[in-house]
Amino acid sequence: MTLAVPNGGDLVDCELHGEAAFQAAAKAQTLRRIELSPYAVSDLVMIATGVLSPLRGFMNRLQYEAVVDNMRLPGGELLGLPVTLPVPRQEAAGLRPDEEVALVCGETAIAIMRIEDVFSYDKQREALAVYGTTDTAHPGVARLFGQPDMLIGGPITLFRRPVSAFSDYEKTPKQLRAEFDSRGWRSVVGFQTRNPIHRAHEYIQKCALEIVDGLLLHPLVGETKADDVSAAVRFKSYEVILTHYYPAHRVILAAFPAAMRYAGPREAVFHAICRRNYGCTHFIVGRDHAGVGDYYGTYAAQDIFSQFHPLELGIQILAFEHAFFCRRCDQMCSSKTCPHSAADHVSLSGSKVRAMLRDNLMPPPQITRPEVAEVLMSADG
Ligand code: ADX
Repeated sequence: MTLAVPNGGDLVDCELHGEAAFQAAAKAQTLRRIELSPYAVSDLVMIATGVLSPLRGFMNRLQYEAVVDNMRLPGGELLGLPVTLPVPRQEAAGLRPDEEVALVCGETAIAIMRIEDVFSYDKQREALAVYGTTDTAHPGVARLFGQPDMLIGGPITLFRRPVSAFSDYEKTPKQLRAEFDSRGWRSVVGFQTRNPIHRAHEYIQKCALEIVDGLLLHPLVGETKADDVSAAVRFKSYEVILTHYYPAHRVILAAFPAAMRYAGPREAVFHAICRRNYGCTHFIVGRDHAGVGDYYGTYAAQDIFSQFHPLELGIQILAFEHAFFCRRCDQMCSSKTCPHSAADHVSLSGSKVRAMLRDNLMPPPQITRPEVAEVLMSADG
């Protein structure tokens, strides 16, 4: 086995360094400025560093329509989700095809984009295709409907990496591939999460680690909905647990810069392709991956993968059933491995666990390791 071949064959690298970056920064001073949202900044960083290979810029019209309709770029490469740069109508009206613009984060220009397309788009259609709903109670749909009405697409070059609170953990696909290589890993499983680690997470990660060389713990650090636990606390929960319960030489903790879409099955595809670009050979998809509310079936994010040829996907999906602790088995298991009834299973809803933490009550260790519970309690208080 070898590390995964990047989507489309080659890892994209649109980041400038040294003198070239310095010159691009000077040029950007002379260009029209487009302000980026934090969401767009995380997409930009991913494009530039190859996480979204073979994408080299925010999607132009052809790419956008192809991915919305068919999950694939016009060249056939699977991506799952559109990656767009929305701008207000008034701003879009002044832009010309082939014009170069400076992309700005806060007050600072960080990238240059050559405009290929300025186009309008149908938000209802995108919502239905990507999220399977137009309900504005869905956080992804709400964001889509609230964003500006025009899209600009075209290739980008990043000349200044935006400041990140997780810079120590943010590793590009190139860096992670080098690290996998240096550790001699030939097979690596990627784990996506937007939550603090709990026992079910640990169980499926370790099941996967039984059959591969290494585990990439890859919590997301881009924007999430307001009531998700913050990325800082999410990371802290991993830091405390790694020292106590994981073999250091077989695990890497790194930050995944993406914003959360909550697009369930489509986002599972996107997450898998991103991890393929980081070099992972395997990717974990458990219950209700990237889901929110009741919009997607519990295993819809696993079922979607049956429509792709393994070569097209380029990464192997490890699907896990709902995992829980069984008192009679005295261990973590799932309906595939446990013969006992729900009465024997320790199960607490997320909101019940949050309520306990708020009241300074330790959730059962079968749900959350005490070390993690302490992190969560002090974050709450
Ligand atoms: S996600 O939105 O990033 O997918 P989360 O952090 O909750 O959310 O989950 C991370 C991964 O663990 C996902 O693949 C999810 O399906 C899986 N997962 C979470 N809880 C369980 C569980 N109890 N049993 C099996 N898989 C789970």
